[in-house]
Amino acid sequence: MDDFLVAAAHLRRAGFGGEAPRLALILGSGFGGLEHEIDSPVQCSYSDLPGFPVPAGTSGHVCRVSQGVLWGTRALVFRGRYHAYEGHAPRELAACVWVAHALGARTLLVTNAAGGIRGDLAPGSMMAIRDHINLTGTNPLVGPTRLRGAAAFPPMGAAYDPGLLAALLKAGEQAGEPMASGVYAAVLGPSFETPAEVEMLRRLGADAVGMSTVPEVIAANALGMRVCGLSLITNRAGGAHDSHERVLQSGADNALRLAAVLRHLVAGLA
Ligand code: HPA
Repeated sequence: MDDFLVAAAHLRRAGFGGEAPRLALILGSGFGGLEHEIDSPVQCSYSDLPGFPVPAGTSGHVCRVSQGVLWGTRALVFRGRYHAYEGHAPRELAACVWVAHALGARTLLVTNAAGGIRGDLAPGSMMAIRDHINLTGTNPLVGPTRLRGAAAFPPMGAAYDPGLLAALLKAGEQAGEPMASGVYAAVLGPSFETPAEVEMLRRLGADAVGMSTVPEVIAANALGMRVCGLSLITNRAGGAHDSHERVLQSGADNALRLAAVLRHLVAGLA
C-alpha cells in the first residue's frame, strides 16, 4: 500500500474518521499558532504517523495534524510541512496533500511566508496567489510509481481555483486587509536569493518568492482538488539581512491578520 494510505488509515484509527473534512489547511512558517483556532481537535504528531518523515530543521517545533471544526467548517490543519531543501523524496514534499485527499478533503488552502519582489508587496502585506513558477528543480509527481488517484500529467492552467481566488480577495476586503494577487515563485533554497537572482525572478514574472507550497499545489491538482493560496510577505527578497528567524517572527507577528482573512474565506465557503 502507498505510505500515505497507511498514514491515512492510521489517522482514521486515531479518531480522524467519520465525516470527511471539507478542507485542508497547511500552515506556513510562523503561522503554527493558528491551529488553536480549531474547536475540539483530534491531533497526531508527524513523528507518530507512519509514512510521514519528521521535517528537518524543526527540532523543538511542533509538527502535527489536527482535525476539528475550524470557523464553522470541518477541517484538517497541518502544522509543519516538507521543503525540498530538506532533501526529501519528491512525493514526500506533498505528504500533507496525499493524506488530506485520502481522508476526503477536496479543497486545499495553502499559506506561506514569502519575500516580496513586486514593488507594492512590502513586508507585512498579503498576496493572494494567482499562479506559480516552479523553480525547485523537483516535482512531487516524480517517481517510479504513480500514487493512486493522481493524474500522471495534470494540467496546471488553473492551478489556483479562480472562484477561490475571487473569494480570497473578497475575504481580504471583509477582514480590512485588501490584498493584491500575484505569482509565487518557488525556489529550492535554503539560501535566500541574491539581488541578481531576485532581478531574474522579477523578469520571469514572479511577484514573490519562497521555498514551499508549489509541490503541494501540484499534487493537489493531480488529485483534482481545488486550491487557494495566500502568502504573507515577510521581507523584501534579496536583502542583506534575510534570515529564517526574521521570517518566523514576521509570520508569528502577523498570524492574527492572516487568520482574520482565512476566517472570512472559510465562512464564505460554508
Ligand atoms: N526568499 C525565499 N523564501 C522566503 C523569503 C525570501 O526572501 N522570505 C520568506 N520565505
